[in-house]
Amino acid sequence: MKIFLDTANLDELRKGADWGIVDGVTTNPSLIAKEGRPLEEQVREICRIVDGDISAEVVATESAAMIREGRELARIHKNIVVKAPLTREGIKATAALSGEGIRVNVTLCFSPSQALLAAKAGAYIVSPFVGRLDDVSTNGMELIRQILTIYKNYGYPTQVLAASLRHPMHVVDAALAGAHIGTMPFKVLDQLFNHPLTDKGLDAFLKDWAKVFQETGAVR
Ligand code: E4P
Repeated sequence: MKIFLDTANLDELRKGADWGIVDGVTTNPSLIAKEGRPLEEQVREICRIVDGDISAEVVATESAAMIREGRELARIHKNIVVKAPLTREGIKATAALSGEGIRVNVTLCFSPSQALLAAKAGAYIVSPFVGRLDDVSTNGMELIRQILTIYKNYGYPTQVLAASLRHPMHVVDAALAGAHIGTMPFKVLDQLFNHPLTDKGLDAFLKDWAKVFQETGAVR
């Protein structure tokens, strides 16, 4: 599974990129607004830090304007994937942009029927929001499984990006389901490293080593 960071924060992106395991970035208008810089400037910086698919979202709601915005976003950098919402206008814009060879991530997907439409429109990625479905007492991970089944049935090449992942078990379950991509906040990526037995084991290894090779001065 590809790991994307779901943030527009440059410090978080630098830290994640440093680990060498970040395949891409997803942003949305809320995440960009949080950083307080114009979208284009922020996205350019992100492209300098992470070499992979970088999703940047349109804010227009009508297809012609979405298409114009999408073209502009795609011109910023070769790694930009234009994000469009799963509305009627968004699907129309997705079909048009995909037809021009511009890669589109269809976002705010909450049902298998919506995901079918995204694939039909030629989306490069579809983003079902797991956590936001869990928030309303609906099994978000089940949606990931349903979409993967539908896409497999017909050989749709659209990648399934498990979005709105809120904790490590979401990431594990998305990987078990076979999602192509999981996007997560920096905090969740950081949590994936943690295991008390790793800390305990390393501590014991280093103490044993030190006893023989440091305290006694023996040559290793
Ligand atoms: C994905 O592209 C979205 O930006 C994101 O995953 C939304 O997550 P949230 O529901 O935690 O805001």
